[in-house]
Amino acid sequence: MTAPILELRGVNKSFGPIDVLFDISLTVRAGEVLCLLGDNGAGKSTLIKILSGVYQPTSGQILMDGQPTSFPNPRAASDKGIATVHQFGGTFPLMSIGRSFFVGVEPARGWGPFKRYDRKTANAVAVKAVRDFGITRIDDGDRLVGGLSGGERQSLAIARAVHFGARVLILDEPTAALGVKQATHVLRIVNEAKRRGLAVVFITHQVMHAMAVGDHFAVLIRGAVAADFKKGEKTREEITDLMAGGASMSSLEAEIEGYMASHGGHPPPPAH
Ligand SMILES: Nc1ncnc2c1ncn2[C@@H]1O[C@H](COP(=O)(O)OP(=O)(O)OP(=O)(O)O)[C@@H](O)[C@H]1O
Ligand SMILES: [Mg+2]
Repeated sequence: MTAPILELRGVNKSFGPIDVLFDISLTVRAGEVLCLLGDNGAGKSTLIKILSGVYQPTSGQILMDGQPTSFPNPRAASDKGIATVHQFGGTFPLMSIGRSFFVGVEPARGWGPFKRYDRKTANAVAVKAVRDFGITRIDDGDRLVGGLSGGERQSLAIARAVHFGARVLILDEPTAALGVKQATHVLRIVNEAKRRGLAVVFITHQVMHAMAVGDHFAVLIRGAVAADFKKGEKTREEITDLMAGGASMSSLEAEIEGYMASHGGHPPPPAH
């Protein structure tokens, strides 16, 4: 088997006296979606900040294509093809689609439209990249990003990363704030990125979203990998319970769903 694109070996992270990550070992492969699951505060964001050059590990190793490497800053990670899409797409609401697509892509790197901003070319390239991902409702690069739906913004950010040659796509809760239809859209785009051979790290609280795209799953509990398994090896109930640290959450979840089904979609009132 070829070496994974990214690998963590025995990574620890502390902030002063606070230990946040313990002995994390994980692999991220091309054409595969790794879902990182875990409750609030489990260490998911800290882990992806290590993968994207925002933080340095306190100890342990990062390997890329089998070679030890380091990402001293976010730019170093992005130069090596690691693209991180933050929640809400990390885009700029008051910028046009075309503008935002080319933000941060300096002319020095040889990008034509920015030697002098060529609005028409920038718009055409951006709209084509997004439409190639199946977002056919976007046809005008002059539209402001702020007017796009949450799912469209995420899609734009993902299309942008792929367009500029990302090999690893890190998505921190891309579907958290989205409705069912938009989340489905984003999940479809994640599958398309995978089909194109990218490695995807997908962080979510939602087990159903993870199961829709994941090939490989890692559950973090209090900073440690509590479980690491492949698609089909665990049921939805088992994953839900694992995420809650072994508590039987799946039965509670089923109870709430049952209540909502018989109460016109309304969640149960809070307990007094
Ligand atoms: N810079 C920091 N200094 C000290 N502690 C930190 C720092 N950053 C994160 N932590 C702590 O590390 C733990 C993990 O945080 P992290 O943000 O990685 O969790 P998470 O899994 O992303 O949670 P969420 O699901 O809520 O986004 C938390 O207890 C947090 O308080
Ligand atoms: Mg987080």
